[in-house]
Amino acid sequence: MKVITYGTFDLFHEGHYNILKRARQLGDYLIVGVTSEHYDKSRGKLNVTQSLVERIENVKNSGLADEIIVEEYDGQKIEDIQKYGVDKFVIGSDWTGKFDYLKEYCEVVYLERTKGVSSTQLRNREYGILNIGCVGSGRIAVRMIRESKYVSGVNFDAVFGRNDEHIREFADENDMEYYTTDYDDFLDKVDAVYIATPHSTHYEFAKKAIMAKKHVLCEKPITLTENQTRELFDLARENDVVIYEAIKTAFAHAFKRLISYAKSGVIGNIRDVDATFTKMVTDKSLREYDLSVGGGSVNELITYPLIAIFKLLGIDYNSIDFYPYFDQETGVDVYTKAFIQYDDAIACANVGIGVKKEGELVIAGTKGYIYVPSPWWKTTYFEIRFENTNKNEKYFFRFDEDGLRYELVDFYLSIINGTQNTNVKDCESIAISRVIEDFSNMYHQKDI
Ligand code: CTP
Repeated sequence: MKVITYGTFDLFHEGHYNILKRARQLGDYLIVGVTSEHYDKSRGKLNVTQSLVERIENVKNSGLADEIIVEEYDGQKIEDIQKYGVDKFVIGSDWTGKFDYLKEYCEVVYLERTKGVSSTQLRNREYGILNIGCVGSGRIAVRMIRESKYVSGVNFDAVFGRNDEHIREFADENDMEYYTTDYDDFLDKVDAVYIATPHSTHYEFAKKAIMAKKHVLCEKPITLTENQTRELFDLARENDVVIYEAIKTAFAHAFKRLISYAKSGVIGNIRDVDATFTKMVTDKSLREYDLSVGGGSVNELITYPLIAIFKLLGIDYNSIDFYPYFDQETGVDVYTKAFIQYDDAIACANVGIGVKKEGELVIAGTKGYIYVPSPWWKTTYFEIRFENTNKNEKYFFRFDEDGLRYELVDFYLSIINGTQNTNVKDCESIAISRVIEDFSNMYHQKDI
């Protein structure tokens, strides 16, 4: 009698041991499926602490599994049951009903879950909860708080802002305990800050937070000048804290895969990257139209095309030329085309808050090209295309809602594991600030 069961088995605990033991007793051969890292991420299970190898080792050390396999995709259970000639599928009672569809293939048994223990609980006990305070209470802050509910181990319980009434309302609506207009007080209450205020204020808030030894997740662009961004990274290193530029795209699985494919030579040598990001903003009373707080298309949006360009072609470009179109009334650039020249490649970034364009990314190489349709910054699908269309390949991925959860998980894991941010490197953030500063020096230095 063959029995099969599945799980993540992160930080192996008593509940895991119990279910494996009872599953083993239901037959005479136990197969255990351990989820792959990619599968966990793709089904929205974030924050798994141990690697696949470590989790397999956990199951092996229990001495209860006769065979261990890796679970990599939805629908694999049906195939496994048939392939291994399984008689019984066993899973904990937290899944009751969810696997009834397998009854067509074998017996399905839900076993009572062991009370009072879970990997999530152990993770929280071991690493504690990271209390993140929200600096600012605007549109993006609301989205981040909503997304944070999907990331275990982090908690948003405090908000800082300048307008007392506004932050009180914000705290109420988002179930936060603490709100204040006093930044020092606020910093005392938190382990880390999420900075979501207008661009021109990032530097001061981030610097103060770092000096108070708080980790910083900062909305893009981190600052509007190269030196300020560089200084923040240096200060963070000196104070032993982490600072992250919150470019959500860079943390999304599909985007990372896209970059790896492109860099692997599948389309030959990359000669051209063309990336567009436009987001229409029609209300001119919003900060996007206010030069004094860093408004305009370049400040607001160029981070996205640049992260793709810099990941693909590097930060050592030879020259950059801007072709902006300005709003007469406010002076902000409502559409800008930037050409970036490298030794053997050219890139183009198109950004607009007052002009709409197809938001696609095209990476052209000497053997073929990669096409990522709009919205490429929330990539769920891309295609590798060749002259011979029979060789074209399509790739599909998951990207949940706003996708801010991925950067939050990475930020959290980097703090608890002491790892580097490899998704947005310090030098890439610094190079992005340099481009923004160059643009500002050329067109409206006096205004910022
Ligand atoms: N399990 C159990 N009793 C527990 C915890 C888990 O019986 N207290 C079972 C689950 O029902 C599942 C298997 O162990 O059949 C693997 O579950 P997994 O998701 O790896 O463990 P959790 O502790 O639930 O993990 P997390 O908190 O990350 O969801």
